[in-house]
Amino acid sequence: MQKFASVCRPALFAAALFAVPALAADVSKGDPKAGRALVYTCGGCHGVAGYKNAYPNYHVPRIAGQNFDYLVAALTEYKKGERSHPTMRAQGQSLSDDDIRNIAAYLSSLSASK
Ligand code: HEC
Repeated sequence: MQKFASVCRPALFAAALFAVPALAADVSKGDPKAGRALVYTCGGCHGVAGYKNAYPNYHVPRIAGQNFDYLVAALTEYKKGERSHPTMRAQGQSLSDDDIRNIAAYLSSLSASK
């Protein structure tokens, strides 16, 4: 019994560690409806078939159907200047943290095929 307890304690500790961020993430999942209104301008570049900007012709990454956390991280990095792309920095800086979560909630709810 003694041995069993010492094996289990680290596992319980790990479970407690992970439970907190999971709960926090739930409250800040964002509002997809609010996000939908905000991504209207993004489609000019990101909504193009083949994910190329029409002119000048350059590749634009797919964002519809992306993972929520990935989108929040990417947009926050542009906002803070940790990613240097000038166009997306301007986009990121125009968004609040709530906007970013709402946008990510909407985009991650889309099917990846668009
Ligand atoms: C003027 C064109 C343009 C507009 C408008 C635009 N983007 Fe972008 N976006 C780009 C380009 C180009 C990249 C690739 C930048 C790079 O290489 O870092 C990018 C990258 C991204 C990425 C990172 C994707 C990845 O896989 O790393 C996200 C997320 C993103 N955009 C979201 C948005 C959102 C949300 C909006 C609207 C608020 C928006 N973009 C508006 C051109 C645009």
